[in-house]
Amino acid sequence: MSNIVVTGAQWGDEGKGKIVDLLTEQADIIVRFQGGNNAGHTIIIGESKIIVHLIPSGILHPGKKCLIGNGVVLDPEIFLQEIDTLSGQGIDVSPERLMVSRKTHVIMPYHKLMDAARESAKSNDKKIGTTGRGIGPCYEDKMARVGVRAGDLEDLELIRDKIHRGLEEKNVLFERLYMMPAVDPEEVFESVSLAAKRLVPYLGDVPGTIQEAGSKGKVVLFEGAQGAQLDIDHGTYPFVTSSNTVAGEASLGCGCAPNELDTVISVVKAYTTRVGRGPFPTELFDDVGEHMQVRGAEFGATTGRQRRCGWLDIVILREAVRLCGPTGIALTKLDVLGGLSELKLCVGYKYRGQKIDYPPQEENGLAHVEPLYDTLPGWQEDIGGVTSWEALPKAAQNYITSIEGLLGVPVTIVSVGPERNQTFFRG
Ligand code: GDP
Ligand code: IMO
Ligand code: MG
Repeated sequence: MSNIVVTGAQWGDEGKGKIVDLLTEQADIIVRFQGGNNAGHTIIIGESKIIVHLIPSGILHPGKKCLIGNGVVLDPEIFLQEIDTLSGQGIDVSPERLMVSRKTHVIMPYHKLMDAARESAKSNDKKIGTTGRGIGPCYEDKMARVGVRAGDLEDLELIRDKIHRGLEEKNVLFERLYMMPAVDPEEVFESVSLAAKRLVPYLGDVPGTIQEAGSKGKVVLFEGAQGAQLDIDHGTYPFVTSSNTVAGEASLGCGCAPNELDTVISVVKAYTTRVGRGPFPTELFDDVGEHMQVRGAEFGATTGRQRRCGWLDIVILREAVRLCGPTGIALTKLDVLGGLSELKLCVGYKYRGQKIDYPPQEENGLAHVEPLYDTLPGWQEDIGGVTSWEALPKAAQNYITSIEGLLGVPVTIVSVGPERNQTFFRG
């Protein structure tokens, strides 16, 4: 068995959590390599619904090891809360099963304050609609080479010094620009050192663990967060998150060689959704959009915000295929489209008088495209109980083969409901 990377192909919430949970059976180690608790990955097992934000979705499978790589930004408070919630549900979250890289950057309380202050200071048309979790400011500190890393939690004097130096600059912004009270560095230090006591036992050598696993023939599953269109470089900048979300980041974000990434699965929702602001060419404001929102229960797993919904956009998927090189697509939420008389696939855009097949590269170019659609027949049946290709209505088969034809990538996993067993593999 080869290592598998699972990444989102759209604007997040494609159902990565469900697919990772499913593929975990074939893996020994599951690793998160980017993003932070802006993610919300939902796993439904019978009556219970578990949403993990930071800890890899593989944690629900006993015996599997879960790693948090250097590319992640980790909020200690959330990490410990998640550990408490999961252990309250009888899940083993001991340091034997869960490891955090010493190089993982830590989200500090002032990162969250900065995230909120920046957003509220922006005019409506400039707001990004972040999750408010301090993600952007934490990655900023990382790149500015002033960040706090998880390994620093072993050296409290180093942390104290970094907090004091960091706040010297940030407090000027808080007080003078955002008209907020200054943050007391000693208060921050107190709270961080409390969390440090519990967090330090989880620190470990993530690259070493992955390398050792490889030498023993074990399988590593890389769990992506967000989606290709939220990538800091390749997404709808500036309406993006602050990390690279594409498959290649799996190597950088946990410290393993690129040739360890064998198989890439792109998770594609059968239609498109987006939370937060930013261009969305196929967005629907009519009954069809409402059908998707209601039938798909499209509310953000992290912030509870209603997700914007629209037709499947092949153009952005082409870009995701180009960026991530998937060997297969996991198509999720196909059941949600049942009951619509016809389905549309956006196969190209009209942009500045020309037809284009890939998103424009100019900033906010996507806000100025006109989607060009192919129309396909819909199906009326409830497919939530379908467990084979043959049992799918012809129109659903046709929808899938049309996507495969347009993208040149096979749909290898089909998901027809949130439960583990509402899925089937092809080929
Ligand atoms: P992620 O962030 O990519 O892991 O996705 P989220 O968990 O944020 O959102 C996906 C939502 O869709 C969750 O509530 C899942 O339980 C649900 N879901 C996943 N696959 C399917 C499916 O095939 N059909 C339906 N109806 N729901 C699904
Ligand atoms: P999962 O892993 C959907 C969006 C936010 C906002 C933008 C920037 O569950 O798919 P940030 O807080 O990251 O600075 O916000 O990115 N966003 C997501 N949207 N799913 C996610 O994660 C997201 N993580 C961030 O809504 O538009
Ligand atoms: Mg989500």
